Amino acid sequence: MKKNIVSLLLALTLSVPTAVYASSDDVSDSQQEETSQEGEAAGENAQSLSSNFLVVYFTYGENADLPEDVDASASASIQTVDDEVTGNTGAVARMISEAAKADLFSIRTVQKYPDNYDDTLDQAQDEQSQDTRPELETELESLDAYQTIFLGFPNWWGDMPMAVYSFLDDYDLSGKTLIPFVTSGGSGFSSTISEIESAEPEADVLEGLSLSSSEASDAEEVVEDWLDGLGYLQ
Ligand SMILES: Cc1cc2nc3c(=O)[nH]c(=O)nc-3n(C[C@H](O)[C@H](O)[C@H](O)COP(=O)(O)O)c2cc1C
Repeated sequence: MKKNIVSLLLALTLSVPTAVYASSDDVSDSQQEETSQEGEAAGENAQSLSSNFLVVYFTYGENADLPEDVDASASASIQTVDDEVTGNTGAVARMISEAAKADLFSIRTVQKYPDNYDDTLDQAQDEQSQDTRPELETELESLDAYQTIFLGFPNWWGDMPMAVYSFLDDYDLSGKTLIPFVTSGGSGFSSTISEIESAEPEADVLEGLSLSSSEASDAEEVVEDWLDGLGYLQ
C-alpha cells in the first residue's frame, strides 16, 4: 500500500506489458487524462492491470535534462529502445518486462539531473552525503496487484541513486517478492542488497542480476537465462 498517494496514472491493456508511468515529457497530457479517468479507474485497477509482475527501475537517461536531439551513441549511459531514450538499466528493464510479461514503472524525479556526466557525479555524491530523498514525479496508485517486483538501478557511488530510496520510502513492499537488478561500471551491487533489505524488512529479496554497463544493451539472452532459472520466463 502506498503511503502517500498523490496521483494516478495507469495505462491499461489486457494482453501486453504496460508502462504504468507518466513520462517527463507528457505529464501535463497524462494529468489531463488522469482527471477524466480518475472516477472510472479508481477501484478497478486489480482487474485492469495486465500482469502480476512489475519492473520498477531508475535510469539516468530518463532522469536527465537531455537535449531533444540527444545523440545516444555519444554517451555510454544513454540508450534508445523503440525510439525511446532511456539508459542501461532502462534497457534491461524493458528486456525483463518483455521476457517476464511484466508491467514497467520508471522512477522519475521532479528535478532532472544534469546532461553531463561530471556534474551528475557531483550531484549524486551531494545527494548521498546529505541522505536526500528526491521528490518523485511518477507515482503508482497501488502495488496490490503485484506479488513480484523487479527493482532495477545503476550503481551510483557504491549505492543506489537516492531516488530509489524515495521509492522505497513511499511504498510498503511487505510480503512482496523483490528481485533486484543493477547495471554498473564494474562494482555490481556493492552494499545495495542489504540496503534494500533494511528498507523493506518484510519483503522476500531474491538473488538479483548484475550486469556491466557495456553488456546491458545486448543482454537479452542473459536476462532470459536468469529469468528461466528463477522460473519467471513467460
Ligand atoms: C553518479 C554516478 C555514479 C556512479 N558510480 C559508480 C560506481 O560507484 N561503481 C560503478 O561500477 N559504476 C558507477 N557508475 C556507472 C554506472 O553504474 C553505469 O554506467 C550504469 O550502467 C548506468 O546505468 P543507467 O544508464 O541506467 O543510469 C556511476 C555512474 C554515475 C552517473
